[in-house]
Amino acid sequence: MATILKVSDLTVSYPQGFKREKLALDGLDLEVNEGEIFGLLGPNGAGKTTFIKSIVGLIGFKKGTISIFGESALSLKAKAKVGYMPEIANYYWFMTPKEILKMFGSFCGMRGAGLNKEIDETLELVGISGEKDRLVKGFSKGMQSRLNLAQAILHDPDFLILDEPFSGLDPLGRIDVRNIISQMAKRGKTILLSSHELSEAELICNTVCVMKAGRALKFGPMEKLVAEKGGHSLENYFLKMIGGHDA
Ligand SMILES: Nc1ncnc2c1ncn2[C@@H]1O[C@H](COP(=O)(O)OP(=O)(O)OP(=O)(O)O)[C@@H](O)[C@H]1O
Ligand SMILES: [Mg+2]
Repeated sequence: MATILKVSDLTVSYPQGFKREKLALDGLDLEVNEGEIFGLLGPNGAGKTTFIKSIVGLIGFKKGTISIFGESALSLKAKAKVGYMPEIANYYWFMTPKEILKMFGSFCGMRGAGLNKEIDETLELVGISGEKDRLVKGFSKGMQSRLNLAQAILHDPDFLILDEPFSGLDPLGRIDVRNIISQMAKRGKTILLSSHELSEAELICNTVCVMKAGRALKFGPMEKLVAEKGGHSLENYFLKMIGGHDA
């Protein structure tokens, strides 16, 4: 199985006050393989978003290497194959989903009738086709999340990176997102997602990593890891790994 993402010794700090730094990722090693739905789990502040932002080139790192499809993560060749759904997205409030997706599609070299067709199909898939000509200004949190996902999958990326994709969604929205992720995996795509929603992660992920304080405590096939800690549930495994109480 091909390695899609390989991260070695990734170390990231944020400036914190005068000559001080906050270590957010502490020599992290991690691999994501082709076809996996890889769940990045961890408590608030564990470093999940920092990790994801480093992979997509939004923040610099002072030590380590990141490769995607065997290329440097910062190369255009690698970036062209990646779809990224940020944890927080602020789209221009005076634009409509159709206009926003046109803009993002053009960044990926998509044009004309082909782009319009992809936009219609993607908005249908994420369940906001009825809102495609409405200003984003009036969008609910869940509708914004759906648009955020649409932006990430519009160019049919081979590697999809989703930071908290279930956040802000109602139960139907969660099912929709789960189905979209499953469909993409069935089509051979690789997915890396971060989530606080352990029940969602348990339903969809086949590989998990628990992070704490900027380190990957362990990663591997979910069933194997959960079995190592008594085999009850992902929640139980999570609590045992991060040093919380048993469920
Ligand atoms: N822009 C920033 N400036 C300074 N410190 C930051 C910044 N962003 C994150 N941090 C710190 O880095 C650490 C990791 O934060 P990060 O957002 O990556 O965690 P997370 O696992 O995504 O958390 P959450 O589950 O709350 O989304 C935290 O201690 C956080 O306070
Ligand atoms: Mg986060």
